[in-house]
Amino acid sequence: MVTETPKKKCLGEGCENEISTLQCPKCLTLGIKDSYFCSQDCFKKNWNTHKTMHKQETKITYHNPWPTFAYSGPLRPVYPLSPYRQVPASIPRPDYADSGIPNYSSRNRSKIELLDAKGQDAMRKVCRLAREVLDIAAAALRPGITTDEIDEIVHKACIERNSYPSPLNYNHFPKSVCTSVNEVICHGIPDRRVLLDGDIVNLDVTLYHEGYHGDLNETYYVGDRAKADPDSVRVVEAARECLEEAIKLVKPGTLFREFGNVIEAHAKTRNCSVIRTYVGHGINTLFHCPPNIPHYARNKAVGECKPGMTFTIEPMVALGKYRDITWPDNWTSTTSDGKRTAQFEHTLLVTETGVEILTARKADSPGGPVPTPTAGQTNGAK
Ligand code: MF3
Ligand code: CO
Ligand code: CO
Repeated sequence: MVTETPKKKCLGEGCENEISTLQCPKCLTLGIKDSYFCSQDCFKKNWNTHKTMHKQETKITYHNPWPTFAYSGPLRPVYPLSPYRQVPASIPRPDYADSGIPNYSSRNRSKIELLDAKGQDAMRKVCRLAREVLDIAAAALRPGITTDEIDEIVHKACIERNSYPSPLNYNHFPKSVCTSVNEVICHGIPDRRVLLDGDIVNLDVTLYHEGYHGDLNETYYVGDRAKADPDSVRVVEAARECLEEAIKLVKPGTLFREFGNVIEAHAKTRNCSVIRTYVGHGINTLFHCPPNIPHYARNKAVGECKPGMTFTIEPMVALGKYRDITWPDNWTSTTSDGKRTAQFEHTLLVTETGVEILTARKADSPGGPVPTPTAGQTNGAK
């Protein structure tokens, strides 16, 4: 007995022809079988409808990587992460870029560096570039974009500026920017989740350029709905103001422990708490070095501001409790009660008379303060 293999039909719509050996090349690379057409012509004619199946048939299945983890809030990661983004070999790299391990000598662990004029100029330059990159990333924010797409934008903008994206492989961090959504306090890993109208997201950008790091972050409202949500506006604007209040103190002689008192006092006026686990830090040829700058009141930080020091202040402020938990990725820090948080960060230079905000906003920087929404005043939301 002979069984006849049924003749396969051409994929072309309404086409009754037998297939040729011509398969869609895109389908082949995606592993989609049997996408035969009768002719090049028929393939071309049907391309617009045919190509839509490439998206549906893509092998990636988006998923929550830890379905049994006790998340504290509604946010879920969307995996798989995109492939590792390479940095061209021509761009100078920090010591950890290949090993994943920053190499601190014992001298660097204790002493606070005072930068000379040359070091200060290098810090001015990298911080200006970091501001440019943050502003480019922030301008791309809209409902529907994924945090991974933001990562790609940051990664490319760093490379265009002959800079290495400092987060990439720092202590094995897998991406080039931290993207922290809603209840994420800091160190959010860019993934395949789309941002939604109503989200708030912090973008934390750090560049390494000509041997120095520049570090800044801001929290942004996604779409119009977040700007109309009184709690989101309260926590974001509280965090913004806390950083501004702390910066007002920076000048030679100010004790590092004073910043936390001012920050927590201001957060309290907005009925917000201050995160304790993560602190500001010295920054220069090293991403993180002394001093530590706690953001909470009555802290025991030792030391005072001196001309030539460069450090960050980066208060994280929460709507609920200050306690944090970490996701199984060992990076993403969220509030333990799942309520929203916000953060702002600048890299600062202590001058003879006060402070230079090295990562200051420009006249056209995206973001900036929004007024508290009241009943009937929606900040543009429908
Ligand atoms: N930019 C962060 C800070 O403000 C540090 C990020 S470390 C990373 O200190 F590995 F998560 F990128
Ligand atoms: Co930062
Ligand atoms: Co920092």
